[in-house]
Amino acid sequence: MNDLARKYNVPVPRYTSYPTVPYWENTATAEDYFQLTQAAYLRHADQGVAIYIHLPFCESLCTYCGCSKRITKNHEVERPYIDSVLKEWNTYRELFGETIKINAIHLGGGTPTFFSAENLKTLIEGIIADNHVVERAELSFEGHPNNTKEKHLKTLYDLGFRRVSFGIQDFDEKVQLTINRVQPYQRVKEVVEMARKIGYNSINFDLIYGLPYQTEKTISDTIEKVSRLMPDRIAFYNYAHLPQAFPAQKSFEKFLPTESEKKRIYEIGKTLLNQLSFHEVGMDHFALASDELFIAIKENRLHRNFMGYTCLQSKLLIGLGASSISDTYGGYMQNVKGVEEYKLLVLNQGYAFAKAHIMTERDIQIKELIADLICHEMTTKNHAVLNTLNDQTKQELLELKNDGLIQATSNGLKVNKIGVPYLRNICKAFDERMQDRNEAVVFSKN
Ligand SMILES: C[S@@+](CC[C@H](N)C(=O)[O-])C[C@H]1O[C@@H](n2cnc3c(N)ncnc32)[C@H](O)[C@@H]1O
Ligand code: SF4
Repeated sequence: MNDLARKYNVPVPRYTSYPTVPYWENTATAEDYFQLTQAAYLRHADQGVAIYIHLPFCESLCTYCGCSKRITKNHEVERPYIDSVLKEWNTYRELFGETIKINAIHLGGGTPTFFSAENLKTLIEGIIADNHVVERAELSFEGHPNNTKEKHLKTLYDLGFRRVSFGIQDFDEKVQLTINRVQPYQRVKEVVEMARKIGYNSINFDLIYGLPYQTEKTISDTIEKVSRLMPDRIAFYNYAHLPQAFPAQKSFEKFLPTESEKKRIYEIGKTLLNQLSFHEVGMDHFALASDELFIAIKENRLHRNFMGYTCLQSKLLIGLGASSISDTYGGYMQNVKGVEEYKLLVLNQGYAFAKAHIMTERDIQIKELIADLICHEMTTKNHAVLNTLNDQTKQELLELKNDGLIQATSNGLKVNKIGVPYLRNICKAFDERMQDRNEAVVFSKN
């Protein structure tokens, strides 16, 4: 590992939000949140509302997994859960009181394809009934290659879904056995071909580097298999090792690559993806030049929210389901994480509020600057916050500049090529909420 990699190999958030969840103030009540949401709706209804639905169930535990999930083989859980999500959505429908313009729906998890195609149909029809899905809406879902059936793909396609993301992680058998996620290449091939045939126009693969037993050879072999299937997008995630929160990760701790091996695995992976014509899009993501995500960068209309990178901006994102997060631009809210508690709260009161953060003007300014950096690797406009930076931020920026990771521009800063892998560290320089608190919060390393 070189000196830069060593220096910046510190735990930093992924900045899917600012402030990040551990630094929310959590003083707002459910009433505050709904008032804010109603006000946001009045302001942004024209732009459309984005909806994230968390579907938490999985049939078996992938031991590396850091997502919010519930493991069960009992499919009786599907209907009651969907009823709860629709009841929660009804609370928002009543709050907005009119036909809602929907510009995105993302089904995440857990495993959305744990649910039967019929139940997913009931869910989506219930969400869009009497509402208006805009013409260029982005409808997407996460599919597990092992249980995504043709019927899932067809049903969701008929409902307007055109994007699917498959969790691949790594094709190597030993890696797959160790993380308890065996999914043969042949199965992935079948499901990808099915999706293409049905008409999905954007297929994403999630890959991870830093898994147990991964080597430069296994990542090269994995990417060779990727090249045979050529998805449109790739998320190439850094394995987040947080065994306190996810104890199953302890099972393979001693087989993890060292930090310098992990860095080399990433470098090789990135080089091979570039050779296959995948272009880097912001943090952790790659896309073919033909994919809308890459086109969006060129046209300066790439955005990022809790659901990841998107081409359509939504200033109102409603999260439904256990553990989901809503973003009203003026504030964030997270639902309770437990499935039973979620269902009970929704049954009794129509929502499952756990905690919320109301944004200050300063938070919004920093959020916009961080989003700009993450999407464009530079500031694309004059951010007022740059004129009022505190001493700690100035000091950190100077260091980043001296290390060659960033350079000053007429309207702010630009991330240099060697700085791109450290985008999270660069965003951290602006994280005043983190600076304000001294206690350690656990994030994965870069
Ligand atoms: C909710 S899962 C994907 C959907 C589906 N459950 C599946 O596994 O196919 C979302 C993605 O998060 C990523 N992920 C999960 N745990 C992770 C970890 N510990 N570190 C890095 N990425 C992780 C994986 O790439 C995974 O595909
Ligand atoms: S990686 Fe996906 S399928 Fe595996 S446990 Fe996590 S959410 Fe479930």
